[in-house]
This record gives sequence, structure tokens and C-alpha cells, in this order.
Amino acid sequence: MELLKNLKWRYATKKFDTTKKVSHQDLDKIKEAVQLSVSSYGLQLYKVLIIENAQIREQLKPVSWNQSQITDASHLFVFCNYTDASSKTINDFIKHTAKTRNLDLERLYGYGDFIKSKLAEKSPDETTSWLKSQTYLALGNLLNACAELRIDACPMEGFEPEAYNNILGLHQQGLNAAVIAPIGYRHCDDHTIGQQKVRKPMELLFETI
Ligand SMILES: Cc1cc2nc3c(=O)[nH]c(=O)nc-3n(C[C@H](O)[C@H](O)[C@H](O)COP(=O)(O)O)c2cc1C
Repeated sequence: MELLKNLKWRYATKKFDTTKKVSHQDLDKIKEAVQLSVSSYGLQLYKVLIIENAQIREQLKPVSWNQSQITDASHLFVFCNYTDASSKTINDFIKHTAKTRNLDLERLYGYGDFIKSKLAEKSPDETTSWLKSQTYLALGNLLNACAELRIDACPMEGFEPEAYNNILGLHQQGLNAAVIAPIGYRHCDDHTIGQQKVRKPMELLFETI
């Protein structure tokens, strides 16, 4: 299975080669893999920023635990969840579904109402955590797509979300920085290249009932 081979090849890259850039063609494939990610109800309540700008990345580094990947990778992906799921968002999604599948909008009103009623049952904390969790599914696809293309990546939570929100003007757009991933090519001096993967044994990780 190719996926297993790819998963064994990839690792959370600590040091990127600053001279190597991901091509537009590969970037398009990674974006499509992210676009195809699953999400609750299909709502995709997030936006993904792809930051190339060197000055912005210099600003982000000190609020990312000074991790060198922020400035040294080819591109920095910032997965931002929307901070609420408004009725308008759900109405827009229903309209988009009707148009895409050539369906009568009226036939989808019930589904829209069902989504709204289920989301209304969540507490504010549950909503925040639910919205944030959607971005991790997209992150997973990005990591797998990168691995297949032999592009390195590092998933990261080691950053200050509020500082990102301020620097990138995310609050004004109703967004919050949830998780990030620099992508590019490993530096041959990265001391973590080839380290044995540390994973739980199968018998601890799985239980068949
Ligand atoms: C959500 C998340 C956040 C992470 N944050 C960081 C980080 O801030 N910096 C870092 O170098 N690695 C980070 N990692 C990488 C993990 O430490 C790494 O994936 C894990 O140790 C397994 O190693 P592997 O990815 O090399 O197989 C993060 C991973 C995930 C999934």
C-alpha cells in the first residue's frame, strides 16, 4: 500500500532547506487535497492561508516558539477556523449544494434546519472545539498529499493563536488560527532525519470488541 510507504517516509521536519521551493503544480495538488477534505455536514468552516511573504513570516516566528520552520520552509499553511457557524453560513451552504447538484433549493431547507438545530444544541465551548477540530482533517490530508509528492511538512501547534490572529488580521474576518504547517524540503543537516518512529504498539492502540 503506497500510503503506508508514504507515511513511513514523512516526518515532522525540524529544519528546512531555504533554497528549495515547492512548485506551483505541486502546490495546486496539495490545495486540491485540502479542498477534498471531509468536514462535518460538509460545511468546511475554515479558510487556509498560504503565506509566502518573508516579512510576515519574520513577524510570525517569535510568536511560534522561535521555530525555524516558520521562516525557512517554502510555504507556510495557516488553517483558520471560522469562529461561529451562523444561519447565513448554513443557508449559503444549502444554496451552494442545490446549485452544484442541480437540486430544488426548497428540498434542502429541511436539511439546513436540521444542521442549525443540531449546532444550537452545542455550548459555546463545544462549538469552539468543534470548529477547530474541522481544520485537523484538512491538515491530515495536507500531510498525506505532501508525503506522496515527497514534500516535507511539519504540523505545528507551537504558536500563539492570538498573536497570529492579530498579525494576520483574522478577527476582522471572523477567523481564528487553529493549526499551522510549514511545507518544503528537508535540510540535509536536520538531525531528526531517519529517526525511528515512536508509536504505540498495536495492542495498546487498538482493541477489537
Ligand atoms: C497538532 C500537532 C502539533 C504539533 N506541533 C509541533 C510543533 O509545534 N513543532 C514541531 O516541531 N512539531 C510539532 N508536531 C509534530 C509532532 O511532534 C510529531 O508529528 C510526532 O512527534 C510524530 O512524529 P513524526 O511526525 O515525525 O512521525 C506537532 C504535531 C501535531 C499533529
